[in-house]
Amino acid sequence: MESSILRNSEVFEDSYLPSDILHREKEIKDLSSELEMFSRSYPLRAVVYGPPGTGKTTVAKYIMQSFSNYHGIKSIYVNSLLSNSKLSILSGVADSLGIMMPRRGIGSDEIISRIKEKEKRLVIIIDEADSLKEKDFLYYIAKSKETIGLEMGFVAITNVPGFLSLTDARLPALITKRMEFKPYSPSEIRDIILERAKKGLMPGTFNEEIIGKIAGFAARHLGNVRLAIYLLLLSAKKADRDGKNAISLEDVDRAKEDLVSSMLSKTITKLSEDEKKVMESIESMSFPTSSDIEKRMEPMASRTVRDHIKTLIGKEYILSDDIMTKEGKKRVFRVNYKF
Ligand SMILES: Nc1ncnc2c1ncn2[C@@H]1O[C@H](COP(=O)(O)OP(=O)(O)OP(=O)(O)O)[C@@H](O)[C@H]1O
Ligand SMILES: [Mg+2]
Repeated sequence: MESSILRNSEVFEDSYLPSDILHREKEIKDLSSELEMFSRSYPLRAVVYGPPGTGKTTVAKYIMQSFSNYHGIKSIYVNSLLSNSKLSILSGVADSLGIMMPRRGIGSDEIISRIKEKEKRLVIIIDEADSLKEKDFLYYIAKSKETIGLEMGFVAITNVPGFLSLTDARLPALITKRMEFKPYSPSEIRDIILERAKKGLMPGTFNEEIIGKIAGFAARHLGNVRLAIYLLLLSAKKADRDGKNAISLEDVDRAKEDLVSSMLSKTITKLSEDEKKVMESIESMSFPTSSDIEKRMEPMASRTVRDHIKTLIGKEYILSDDIMTKEGKKRVFRVNYKF
């Protein structure tokens, strides 16, 4: 059946690089100027932190493209979830530079000397840097000019707060730039997904109310735009499947339910029944505090609920945030969607 809503599903994929990156002007400017400084012989050792879906990878990839074009310095993107050891990263770098590698395995030293035949300075963007296997890898890169005669600048991207404290103790003093990507506000999310809807959906199949509802959901999950884009796609598919020619608020609700239950079932299979119930109660409220959860879980003893919360935090199934309210600082909880 011809789809009457979805026009181009590619724009909803995570690998899609939007031509317009909205609301990240400052981050783009700051990071670009770091790379530009590197092209003028300054060191580049940047750490970019931010929660999931806040545009870190998108901004880094966007900047890399223009940087290599303008400055003639190669920049190479590495995702440490896929490649996390020194050897595999260096092989990846060599590969990106078009260096032919022998089939027999070769060691880091040999790879480095081959890279040096081609480039004396280059930039590595290390995404998901908290997945690096060797704790001292970034320190090694930071010192690469002195130790191996190949100067590598790096931009390490992570969503682990306090990431630097988990690396080599000598590294923090060498960092040239720390950047934080703050969660998008509801209206920023709205702008971003409206743009995506225009590109991926037929005209007239969505409206402001639909976009606003989806943005609100993502805002509740710490401004995760990936979640919003995914929910928009699911809503469009729901409406399409029912042969409608526009998305309704009800489609968004149904898509949201599916999304939540599939994420919960994926996340919670390893938990006890009581822990699952606590997770579900957290999902059903907007930024609940511990006492909100305790109330919702009655007649379970408060003490038991608090223990479950502790376990869930320990297993990273839920996250806590400290927020300021009229009554002072409050600790609130949310489900950790691993999108
Ligand atoms: N400012 C923006 N303008 C347009 N699209 C955006 C923007 N920020 C994020 N996106 C879109 O949101 C999705 C998630 O963005 P991205 O992958 O860059 O997040 P991230 O911060 O790297 O997340 P994670 O920490 O989970 O890796 C992508 O589909 C991306 O295209
Ligand atoms: Mg990313």
